[in-house]
Amino acid sequence: MPKKTENKNILCIGAGYVGGPTMAMIAKKCPDRKVTVVDINADRIKAWQSDKLPIYEPGLAEVVSETLNRNLFFSTDIDKAIEEADIIFVAVNTPTKTFGEGAGRAADLQYWEKTARQIKRCAKSDKIVVEKSTLPVRTAAAMRRVLSEGANGVNFEVLSNPEFLAEGTAIRDLEMPDRVLVGSAETPSGLAAREAVVDVYASWIPRERILTTNVWSSELSKIAANAFLAQRISSINALSELCEKTGANVSEVARAVGADSRIGPRFLKAGVGFGGSCFKKDILNLVYMCESEGLTEAADYWRSVVDMNEHQKNRFVKTMLRAMFNTVAGKRIALLGFAFKADTSDTRESPAISVAKLLVEEHAQVVVSDPHAIENAKRDLAGLEEFVTYERDPYKAVEGADAVAVLTDWSEYKNIDWQKVYDLMRKPAFVFDGRNFLGHAKLYSMGFHVYAIGIEPKSHFY
Ligand code: UDX
Ligand code: ADP
Repeated sequence: MPKKTENKNILCIGAGYVGGPTMAMIAKKCPDRKVTVVDINADRIKAWQSDKLPIYEPGLAEVVSETLNRNLFFSTDIDKAIEEADIIFVAVNTPTKTFGEGAGRAADLQYWEKTARQIKRCAKSDKIVVEKSTLPVRTAAAMRRVLSEGANGVNFEVLSNPEFLAEGTAIRDLEMPDRVLVGSAETPSGLAAREAVVDVYASWIPRERILTTNVWSSELSKIAANAFLAQRISSINALSELCEKTGANVSEVARAVGADSRIGPRFLKAGVGFGGSCFKKDILNLVYMCESEGLTEAADYWRSVVDMNEHQKNRFVKTMLRAMFNTVAGKRIALLGFAFKADTSDTRESPAISVAKLLVEEHAQVVVSDPHAIENAKRDLAGLEEFVTYERDPYKAVEGADAVAVLTDWSEYKNIDWQKVYDLMRKPAFVFDGRNFLGHAKLYSMGFHVYAIGIEPKSHFY
Protein backbone atom coordinates (compact mmCIF):
# COMPACT_ATOMS: atom_id res chain seq x y z
CA MET A 1 0.00 0.00 0.00
CA PRO A 2 1.61 3.38 -0.90
CA LYS A 3 2.16 5.52 2.18
CA LYS A 4 0.12 8.47 0.86
CA THR A 5 -3.13 6.55 1.10
CA GLU A 6 -2.64 5.89 4.81
CA ASN A 7 -3.85 8.32 7.45
CA LYS A 8 -6.22 9.72 4.91
CA ASN A 9 -8.95 11.08 7.12
CA ILE A 10 -8.14 14.33 8.82
CA LEU A 11 -10.22 15.87 11.58
CA CYS A 12 -9.88 19.22 13.25
CA ILE A 13 -11.62 19.87 16.56
CA GLY A 14 -12.31 23.61 16.83
CA ALA A 15 -13.63 25.65 13.88
CA GLY A 16 -12.16 29.02 14.81
CA TYR A 17 -9.67 31.44 13.31
CA VAL A 18 -7.00 28.73 13.23
CA GLY A 19 -8.96 25.52 12.61
CA GLY A 20 -11.22 26.81 9.82
CA PRO A 21 -8.68 28.41 7.44
CA THR A 22 -5.99 25.78 8.08
CA MET A 23 -8.26 22.87 7.30
CA ALA A 24 -9.70 24.61 4.24
CA MET A 25 -6.16 24.96 2.88
CA ILE A 26 -5.32 21.31 3.64
CA ALA A 27 -8.52 20.25 1.86
CA LYS A 28 -7.59 22.40 -1.13
CA LYS A 29 -4.05 21.07 -1.37
CA CYS A 30 -4.86 17.44 -0.55
CA PRO A 31 -7.95 16.62 -2.64
CA ASP A 32 -7.51 12.88 -1.93
CA ARG A 33 -8.06 13.36 1.78
CA LYS A 34 -11.32 13.82 3.62
CA VAL A 35 -11.03 16.80 5.96
CA THR A 36 -13.68 17.30 8.64
CA VAL A 37 -13.93 20.25 11.01
CA VAL A 38 -16.10 19.97 14.11
CA ASP A 39 -17.09 22.37 16.83
CA ILE A 40 -19.42 22.43 19.83
CA ASN A 41 -20.75 25.75 18.56
CA ALA A 42 -23.54 24.79 16.13
CA ASP A 43 -24.00 28.38 14.90
CA ARG A 44 -20.34 28.53 13.92
CA ILE A 45 -20.60 25.26 12.02
CA LYS A 46 -23.73 26.47 10.23
CA ALA A 47 -21.94 29.68 9.26
CA TRP A 48 -18.99 27.74 7.79
CA GLN A 49 -21.51 25.90 5.60
CA SER A 50 -23.15 29.13 4.44
CA ASP A 51 -22.29 32.10 2.22
CA LYS A 52 -21.51 34.18 5.29
CA LEU A 53 -18.44 32.62 6.92
CA PRO A 54 -18.04 33.17 10.67
CA ILE A 55 -14.76 35.06 10.17
CA TYR A 56 -13.64 37.65 7.65
CA GLU A 57 -10.35 36.74 6.02
CA PRO A 58 -9.34 37.78 2.49
CA GLY A 59 -9.36 34.83 0.07
CA LEU A 60 -10.90 32.43 2.57
CA ALA A 61 -14.37 32.32 0.98
CA GLU A 62 -12.84 31.18 -2.33
CA VAL A 63 -10.90 28.32 -0.72
CA VAL A 64 -13.94 27.19 1.27
CA SER A 65 -16.29 27.31 -1.69
CA GLU A 66 -13.85 25.29 -3.79
CA THR A 67 -13.60 22.53 -1.20
CA LEU A 68 -16.85 22.57 0.78
CA ASN A 69 -18.67 19.23 0.51
CA ARG A 70 -16.01 18.05 -1.97
CA ASN A 71 -13.49 16.94 0.64
CA LEU A 72 -14.07 19.58 3.34
CA PHE A 73 -16.92 18.96 5.75
CA PHE A 74 -18.17 20.86 8.79
CA SER A 75 -20.12 19.05 11.48
CA THR A 76 -21.21 19.08 15.11
CA ASP A 77 -21.11 15.29 15.34
CA ILE A 78 -17.78 15.20 17.14
CA ASP A 79 -18.00 11.58 18.34
CA LYS A 80 -18.54 10.17 14.86
CA ALA A 81 -15.82 12.35 13.35
CA ILE A 82 -13.31 11.17 15.96
CA GLU A 83 -14.16 7.56 15.22
CA GLU A 84 -13.55 8.03 11.50
CA ALA A 85 -10.37 10.11 11.70
CA ASP A 86 -6.75 9.02 11.41
CA ILE A 87 -5.11 12.34 12.21
CA ILE A 88 -6.86 14.65 14.70
CA PHE A 89 -5.78 18.28 14.93
CA VAL A 90 -6.89 19.97 18.15
CA ALA A 91 -7.55 23.69 17.66
CA VAL A 92 -9.86 24.47 20.58
CA ASN A 93 -9.38 27.70 22.47
CA THR A 94 -6.83 27.96 25.27
CA PRO A 95 -7.54 31.37 26.80
CA THR A 96 -5.72 32.88 29.74
CA LYS A 97 -7.03 31.49 33.04
CA THR A 98 -9.33 33.92 34.81
CA PHE A 99 -9.60 32.06 38.11
CA GLY A 100 -7.57 30.13 40.67
CA GLU A 101 -3.87 29.27 40.48
CA GLY A 102 -2.11 31.20 37.70
CA ALA A 103 -5.16 33.41 37.03
CA GLY A 104 -4.32 36.15 34.55
CA ARG A 105 -1.20 34.34 33.30
CA ALA A 106 -1.49 30.59 32.86
CA ALA A 107 -3.34 28.97 29.96
CA ASP A 108 -6.79 27.62 30.75
CA LEU A 109 -6.61 24.06 29.53
CA GLN A 110 -10.15 22.94 30.39
CA TYR A 111 -11.43 22.88 26.77
CA TRP A 112 -8.34 21.11 25.64
CA GLU A 113 -8.60 18.44 28.37
CA LYS A 114 -12.28 17.85 27.64
CA THR A 115 -11.33 17.29 24.02
CA ALA A 116 -8.62 14.79 24.97
CA ARG A 117 -11.12 12.83 27.06
CA GLN A 118 -13.66 12.87 24.26
CA ILE A 119 -11.05 11.56 21.80
CA LYS A 120 -10.23 8.74 24.20
CA ARG A 121 -13.89 7.86 24.69
CA CYS A 122 -14.72 7.72 20.97
CA ALA A 123 -11.56 6.29 19.40
CA LYS A 124 -11.79 2.68 18.28
CA SER A 125 -8.54 2.66 16.29
CA ASP A 126 -5.08 4.23 16.67
CA LYS A 127 -4.95 8.00 16.25
CA ILE A 128 -2.35 10.66 15.68
CA VAL A 129 -3.37 13.61 17.86
CA VAL A 130 -1.84 16.93 16.86
CA GLU A 131 -1.78 20.03 19.05
CA LYS A 132 -2.59 22.99 16.81
CA SER A 133 -3.59 25.44 19.55
CA THR A 134 -0.73 27.20 21.32
CA LEU A 135 -0.09 25.34 24.55
CA PRO A 136 2.36 25.51 27.43
CA VAL A 137 5.48 23.40 27.10
CA ARG A 138 4.96 19.77 28.11
CA THR A 139 1.19 19.87 27.51
CA ALA A 140 1.69 16.98 25.11
CA ALA A 141 2.95 14.89 28.02
CA ALA A 142 -0.23 15.62 29.96
CA MET A 143 -2.30 14.91 26.88
CA ARG A 144 -0.58 11.58 26.39
CA ARG A 145 -1.32 10.69 30.02
CA VAL A 146 -5.00 11.60 29.70
CA LEU A 147 -5.26 9.62 26.47
CA SER A 148 -3.33 6.54 27.46
CA GLU A 149 -4.98 5.59 30.76
CA GLY A 150 -8.05 3.46 30.07
CA ALA A 151 -7.61 3.66 26.30
CA ASN A 152 -8.86 0.12 25.60
CA GLY A 153 -5.91 -0.94 23.49
CA VAL A 154 -5.99 2.10 21.21
CA ASN A 155 -2.62 3.84 20.71
CA PHE A 156 -2.33 7.59 20.59
CA GLU A 157 0.70 9.46 19.34
CA VAL A 158 0.68 13.12 20.46
CA LEU A 159 2.42 15.66 18.22
CA SER A 160 2.81 19.41 18.19
CA ASN A 161 2.24 21.34 14.97
CA PRO A 162 1.72 24.97 15.94
CA GLU A 163 0.07 27.29 13.45
CA PHE A 164 1.99 30.47 12.57
CA LEU A 165 -0.62 32.11 10.33
CA ALA A 166 -1.43 35.74 11.02
CA GLU A 167 -4.99 36.95 10.63
CA GLY A 168 -5.66 39.08 7.58
CA THR A 169 -2.95 37.22 5.67
CA ALA A 170 -3.98 33.70 6.69
CA ILE A 171 -4.46 32.35 3.18
CA ARG A 172 -1.11 33.63 1.94
CA ASP A 173 0.59 32.40 5.13
CA LEU A 174 -0.95 28.96 4.73
CA GLU A 175 -0.15 28.76 1.03
CA MET A 176 3.48 29.87 1.41
CA PRO A 177 4.53 29.62 5.05
CA ASP A 178 8.05 30.61 6.11
CA ARG A 179 8.14 27.29 7.87
CA VAL A 180 5.95 24.48 9.15
CA LEU A 181 6.95 22.96 12.45
CA VAL A 182 6.21 19.38 13.44
CA GLY A 183 7.34 18.14 16.84
CA SER A 184 7.06 14.51 17.88
CA ALA A 185 8.48 11.98 20.28
CA GLU A 186 11.73 10.64 18.89
CA THR A 187 10.61 7.01 19.25
CA PRO A 188 9.84 4.74 16.26
CA SER A 189 6.09 5.34 16.60
CA GLY A 190 6.61 9.05 17.19
CA LEU A 191 8.79 9.37 14.10
CA ALA A 192 6.26 7.44 12.00
CA ALA A 193 3.50 9.78 13.15
CA ARG A 194 5.76 12.75 12.39
CA GLU A 195 6.18 11.48 8.83
CA ALA A 196 2.41 11.15 8.45
CA VAL A 197 1.90 14.79 9.45
CA VAL A 198 4.86 16.00 7.37
CA ASP A 199 3.28 14.17 4.41
CA VAL A 200 0.15 16.29 4.68
CA TYR A 201 2.12 19.53 4.32
CA ALA A 202 4.59 18.13 1.79
CA SER A 203 1.70 18.10 -0.70
CA TRP A 204 2.42 21.79 -1.33
CA ILE A 205 5.23 23.01 0.90
CA PRO A 206 8.89 22.41 -0.02
CA ARG A 207 10.37 19.80 2.27
CA GLU A 208 13.18 22.09 3.47
CA ARG A 209 10.58 24.45 4.95
CA ILE A 210 9.11 21.70 7.08
CA LEU A 211 11.09 21.69 10.30
CA THR A 212 10.95 18.72 12.62
CA THR A 213 11.88 18.81 16.30
CA ASN A 214 11.06 17.13 19.54
CA VAL A 215 7.64 17.97 20.98
CA TRP A 216 8.86 20.39 23.65
CA SER A 217 10.90 22.49 21.21
CA SER A 218 7.89 22.73 18.95
CA GLU A 219 5.56 23.81 21.76
CA LEU A 220 8.04 26.41 23.03
CA SER A 221 8.98 27.71 19.56
CA LYS A 222 5.45 28.91 18.88
CA ILE A 223 5.30 30.86 22.13
CA ALA A 224 8.84 32.15 21.60
CA ALA A 225 8.10 33.38 18.06
CA ASN A 226 5.08 35.35 19.27
CA ALA A 227 7.05 36.72 22.22
CA PHE A 228 9.83 37.93 19.88
CA LEU A 229 7.38 39.61 17.51
CA ALA A 230 5.53 41.32 20.35
CA GLN A 231 8.82 42.35 21.94
CA ARG A 232 9.81 44.19 18.76
CA ILE A 233 6.54 46.11 18.79
CA SER A 234 6.91 47.04 22.46
CA SER A 235 10.51 48.12 21.79
CA ILE A 236 9.51 50.49 19.00
CA ASN A 237 6.52 51.72 21.01
CA ALA A 238 8.83 52.43 23.97
CA LEU A 239 10.99 54.46 21.62
CA SER A 240 7.96 56.29 20.23
CA GLU A 241 7.42 58.02 23.57
CA LEU A 242 11.02 59.18 23.64
CA CYS A 243 10.68 60.40 20.05
CA GLU A 244 7.76 62.60 21.04
CA LYS A 245 9.89 64.18 23.77
CA THR A 246 13.00 64.70 21.66
CA GLY A 247 11.77 65.65 18.19
CA ALA A 248 12.93 62.38 16.63
CA ASN A 249 10.47 60.71 14.25
CA VAL A 250 9.78 57.08 15.15
CA SER A 251 9.10 56.06 11.53
CA GLU A 252 12.50 57.40 10.50
CA VAL A 253 14.15 55.67 13.44
CA ALA A 254 12.40 52.38 12.55
CA ARG A 255 13.52 52.69 8.94
CA ALA A 256 17.12 53.31 9.94
CA VAL A 257 17.15 50.53 12.53
CA GLY A 258 15.34 48.06 10.28
CA ALA A 259 17.78 48.66 7.41
CA ASP A 260 20.33 46.68 9.41
CA SER A 261 20.03 43.26 7.83
CA ARG A 262 20.59 41.68 11.25
CA ILE A 263 17.45 43.41 12.52
CA GLY A 264 15.18 43.62 9.45
CA PRO A 265 12.33 46.04 8.78
CA ARG A 266 9.22 44.10 9.78
CA PHE A 267 7.28 44.41 13.04
CA LEU A 268 8.83 47.78 13.79
CA LYS A 269 5.71 49.84 13.25
CA ALA A 270 4.85 52.00 16.23
CA GLY A 271 1.17 52.23 17.00
CA VAL A 272 -1.53 52.26 19.64
CA GLY A 273 -0.37 48.82 20.84
CA PHE A 274 -0.59 45.24 19.66
CA GLY A 275 -3.78 43.25 19.93
CA GLY A 276 -4.97 39.85 18.78
CA SER A 277 -5.70 36.64 20.56
CA CYS A 278 -2.09 35.44 20.69
CA PHE A 279 0.56 37.93 21.73
CA LYS A 280 -0.63 38.88 25.21
CA LYS A 281 -1.89 35.41 26.03
CA ASP A 282 1.28 33.68 24.89
CA ILE A 283 3.62 36.07 26.68
CA LEU A 284 1.66 35.74 29.91
CA ASN A 285 1.86 32.02 29.46
CA LEU A 286 5.63 32.33 29.02
CA VAL A 287 5.80 34.50 32.15
CA TYR A 288 3.90 31.85 34.08
CA MET A 289 6.18 29.08 32.86
CA CYS A 290 9.26 31.08 33.87
CA GLU A 291 7.74 31.82 37.29
CA SER A 292 6.86 28.17 37.77
CA GLU A 293 10.50 27.28 37.18
CA GLY A 294 11.69 30.02 39.58
CA LEU A 295 13.10 32.13 36.73
CA THR A 296 12.12 35.50 38.19
CA GLU A 297 14.29 37.71 35.96
CA ALA A 298 13.18 35.99 32.77
CA ALA A 299 9.55 36.28 33.89
CA ASP A 300 9.97 40.01 34.63
CA TYR A 301 11.66 40.57 31.27
CA TRP A 302 8.79 39.10 29.28
CA ARG A 303 6.11 40.68 31.47
CA SER A 304 7.53 44.10 30.63
CA VAL A 305 6.58 43.52 26.97
CA VAL A 306 2.91 43.32 27.98
CA ASP A 307 3.25 46.18 30.49
CA MET A 308 4.69 48.42 27.78
CA ASN A 309 1.75 47.56 25.55
CA GLU A 310 -0.77 48.51 28.25
CA HIS A 311 1.12 51.75 28.79
CA GLN A 312 0.98 52.56 25.06
CA LYS A 313 -2.82 52.20 24.97
CA ASN A 314 -3.27 54.39 28.06
CA ARG A 315 -0.82 56.92 26.73
CA PHE A 316 -2.78 57.25 23.49
CA VAL A 317 -5.92 58.27 25.37
CA LYS A 318 -3.95 60.64 27.62
CA THR A 319 -2.62 62.36 24.49
CA MET A 320 -6.20 62.73 23.23
CA LEU A 321 -7.30 64.22 26.51
CA ARG A 322 -4.41 66.65 26.74
CA ALA A 323 -4.85 67.80 23.16
CA MET A 324 -8.58 68.37 23.64
CA PHE A 325 -8.17 70.77 26.57
CA ASN A 326 -8.22 68.02 29.22
CA THR A 327 -11.85 67.15 28.74
CA VAL A 328 -13.72 64.93 26.32
CA ALA A 329 -16.93 64.77 28.37
CA GLY A 330 -19.89 65.04 26.00
CA LYS A 331 -17.62 65.29 22.96
CA ARG A 332 -18.32 63.08 19.98
CA ILE A 333 -15.28 60.96 19.15
CA ALA A 334 -15.29 58.71 16.11
CA LEU A 335 -13.16 55.58 16.32
CA LEU A 336 -12.28 54.51 12.80
CA GLY A 337 -11.43 50.83 13.06
CA PHE A 338 -12.16 48.41 15.86
CA ALA A 339 -10.51 45.19 14.60
CA PHE A 340 -7.10 44.49 16.13
CA LYS A 341 -5.52 44.86 12.68
CA ALA A 342 -6.67 45.36 9.10
CA ASP A 343 -8.35 42.65 7.03
CA THR A 344 -9.92 40.78 9.92
CA SER A 345 -13.20 40.98 11.80
CA ASP A 346 -11.41 39.79 14.95
CA THR A 347 -11.41 42.22 17.88
CA ARG A 348 -9.85 40.01 20.54
CA GLU A 349 -7.50 42.13 22.69
CA SER A 350 -7.91 44.95 20.18
CA PRO A 351 -6.40 48.19 21.51
CA ALA A 352 -9.66 49.81 20.37
CA ILE A 353 -11.45 48.11 23.27
CA SER A 354 -9.20 49.80 25.83
CA VAL A 355 -9.34 53.14 24.03
CA ALA A 356 -13.15 53.05 23.84
CA LYS A 357 -13.49 52.11 27.52
CA LEU A 358 -11.06 54.80 28.67
CA LEU A 359 -12.93 57.40 26.62
CA VAL A 360 -16.23 56.24 28.12
CA GLU A 361 -14.71 56.65 31.59
CA GLU A 362 -14.14 60.28 30.56
CA HIS A 363 -17.81 60.47 29.48
CA ALA A 364 -17.07 60.95 25.78
CA GLN A 365 -19.74 60.04 23.21
CA VAL A 366 -17.94 57.34 21.26
CA VAL A 367 -18.96 56.30 17.73
CA VAL A 368 -17.44 53.03 16.56
CA SER A 369 -16.94 52.41 12.86
CA ASP A 370 -15.35 49.40 11.17
CA PRO A 371 -15.91 47.66 7.82
CA HIS A 372 -16.17 44.16 9.31
CA ALA A 373 -15.94 44.21 13.10
CA ILE A 374 -19.04 46.07 14.30
CA GLU A 375 -20.79 42.93 15.55
CA ASN A 376 -17.77 41.92 17.62
CA ALA A 377 -17.36 45.49 18.87
CA LYS A 378 -20.95 45.44 20.14
CA ARG A 379 -20.15 42.34 22.18
CA ASP A 380 -16.90 43.83 23.51
CA LEU A 381 -18.60 47.06 24.61
CA ALA A 382 -21.88 45.57 25.84
CA GLY A 383 -23.34 47.60 28.70
CA LEU A 384 -21.86 50.89 27.50
CA GLU A 385 -24.76 51.80 25.21
CA GLU A 386 -25.30 55.11 27.00
CA PHE A 387 -21.95 56.31 25.69
CA VAL A 388 -21.27 54.20 22.58
CA THR A 389 -23.01 54.06 19.20
CA TYR A 390 -22.10 52.20 16.01
CA GLU A 391 -21.95 53.42 12.45
CA ARG A 392 -20.61 51.38 9.56
CA ASP A 393 -20.31 54.40 7.23
CA PRO A 394 -17.22 56.41 8.27
CA TYR A 395 -18.67 59.67 6.93
CA LYS A 396 -21.75 59.27 9.13
CA ALA A 397 -19.52 58.35 12.07
CA VAL A 398 -17.50 61.55 11.83
CA GLU A 399 -20.48 63.86 11.34
CA GLY A 400 -20.35 66.51 14.08
CA ALA A 401 -17.38 64.78 15.75
CA ASP A 402 -14.73 66.73 17.60
CA ALA A 403 -12.10 64.07 17.03
CA VAL A 404 -11.35 61.07 14.89
CA ALA A 405 -9.06 58.34 16.20
CA VAL A 406 -7.87 55.84 13.60
CA LEU A 407 -7.29 52.58 15.45
CA THR A 408 -7.09 50.00 12.67
CA ASP A 409 -4.96 50.28 9.53
CA TRP A 410 -7.78 49.49 7.10
CA SER A 411 -6.72 50.79 3.68
CA GLU A 412 -10.13 52.39 3.24
CA TYR A 413 -9.26 54.87 5.98
CA LYS A 414 -6.07 55.88 4.22
CA ASN A 415 -8.05 56.49 1.03
CA ILE A 416 -11.06 58.16 2.60
CA ASP A 417 -11.95 61.72 1.47
CA TRP A 418 -10.32 63.48 4.40
CA GLN A 419 -11.42 66.91 3.19
CA LYS A 420 -15.01 65.70 3.41
CA VAL A 421 -14.28 64.31 6.89
CA TYR A 422 -12.91 67.70 7.94
CA ASP A 423 -15.92 69.51 6.56
CA LEU A 424 -18.31 67.21 8.43
CA MET A 425 -16.61 67.64 11.81
CA ARG A 426 -17.03 70.25 14.53
CA LYS A 427 -14.07 72.65 14.82
CA PRO A 428 -11.42 72.54 16.07
CA ALA A 429 -11.11 69.13 14.41
CA PHE A 430 -8.60 66.66 15.79
CA VAL A 431 -7.23 63.52 14.20
CA PHE A 432 -5.32 60.94 16.22
CA ASP A 433 -3.51 58.48 14.00
CA GLY A 434 -3.04 55.37 16.13
CA ARG A 435 -1.43 53.52 13.25
CA ASN A 436 0.88 56.21 11.89
CA PHE A 437 -0.32 55.60 8.37
CA LEU A 438 -2.14 58.74 7.29
CA GLY A 439 -0.65 61.64 5.31
CA HIS A 440 -0.09 63.98 8.24
CA ALA A 441 1.14 67.05 6.34
CA LYS A 442 -1.90 66.96 4.07
CA LEU A 443 -4.30 66.60 6.98
CA TYR A 444 -2.63 69.52 8.74
CA SER A 445 -2.94 71.68 5.65
CA MET A 446 -6.68 70.95 5.56
CA GLY A 447 -6.99 72.43 9.04
CA PHE A 448 -6.82 69.31 11.24
CA HIS A 449 -4.81 69.24 14.45
CA VAL A 450 -2.82 66.07 13.83
CA TYR A 451 -1.49 63.73 16.50
CA ALA A 452 0.36 60.55 15.61
CA ILE A 453 2.61 58.20 17.56
CA GLY A 454 6.29 58.95 18.03
CA ILE A 455 6.05 62.06 15.87
CA GLU A 456 5.74 65.68 16.98
CA PRO A 457 2.09 66.81 16.85
CA LYS A 458 1.06 69.21 14.11
CA SER A 459 -1.30 71.60 15.82
CA HIS A 460 -2.50 75.00 14.61
CA PHE A 461 -2.54 76.19 18.22
CA TYR A 462 1.23 76.52 18.45
C1 UDX B 1 0.37 36.72 15.38
C2 UDX B 1 1.63 36.15 14.72
O1 UDX B 1 2.11 37.09 13.75
C3 UDX B 1 1.33 34.82 14.07
O2 UDX B 1 2.51 34.25 13.54
C4 UDX B 1 0.73 33.89 15.12
O3 UDX B 1 0.38 32.65 14.52
C5 UDX B 1 -0.50 34.51 15.76
O4 UDX B 1 -0.15 35.78 16.31
P1 UDX B 1 -1.80 37.98 14.51
O5 UDX B 1 -2.07 38.22 15.96
O6 UDX B 1 -2.89 37.42 13.66
O7 UDX B 1 -0.56 36.98 14.34
O8 UDX B 1 -1.36 39.36 13.82
P2 UDX B 1 0.02 40.18 13.69
O9 UDX B 1 0.18 40.57 12.29
O10 UDX B 1 1.16 39.49 14.32
O11 UDX B 1 -0.30 41.51 14.52
C6 UDX B 1 -0.51 41.49 15.91
C7 UDX B 1 -0.71 42.89 16.44
O12 UDX B 1 0.50 43.65 16.36
C8 UDX B 1 -1.76 43.71 15.65
O13 UDX B 1 -2.54 44.45 16.56
C9 UDX B 1 -0.92 44.63 14.79
O14 UDX B 1 -1.58 45.81 14.44
C10 UDX B 1 0.26 44.89 15.72
N1 UDX B 1 1.49 45.30 15.02
C11 UDX B 1 2.09 44.46 14.15
C12 UDX B 1 2.07 46.54 15.32
O15 UDX B 1 1.55 47.31 16.14
N2 UDX B 1 3.25 46.88 14.69
C13 UDX B 1 3.86 46.06 13.80
O16 UDX B 1 4.93 46.44 13.29
C14 UDX B 1 3.27 44.80 13.52
P1 ADP C 1 -8.43 30.23 17.58
O1 ADP C 1 -8.23 31.68 17.28
O2 ADP C 1 -7.28 29.63 18.34
O3 ADP C 1 -8.83 29.39 16.41
P2 ADP C 1 -11.19 30.32 18.45
O4 ADP C 1 -11.73 30.73 19.78
O5 ADP C 1 -11.48 31.14 17.24
O6 ADP C 1 -9.62 30.15 18.66
O7 ADP C 1 -11.66 28.83 18.11
C1 ADP C 1 -11.70 27.80 19.00
C2 ADP C 1 -12.96 26.98 18.71
O8 ADP C 1 -12.91 25.79 19.50
C3 ADP C 1 -14.27 27.67 19.05
O9 ADP C 1 -15.10 27.73 17.91
C4 ADP C 1 -14.90 26.78 20.15
O10 ADP C 1 -16.31 26.68 20.06
C5 ADP C 1 -14.23 25.45 19.84
N1 ADP C 1 -14.24 24.50 20.99
C6 ADP C 1 -13.92 24.76 22.28
N2 ADP C 1 -14.03 23.63 23.02
C7 ADP C 1 -14.42 22.65 22.18
C8 ADP C 1 -14.70 21.25 22.33
N3 ADP C 1 -14.58 20.66 23.52
N4 ADP C 1 -15.08 20.56 21.24
C9 ADP C 1 -15.20 21.17 20.03
N5 ADP C 1 -14.94 22.46 19.82
C10 ADP C 1 -14.55 23.21 20.87
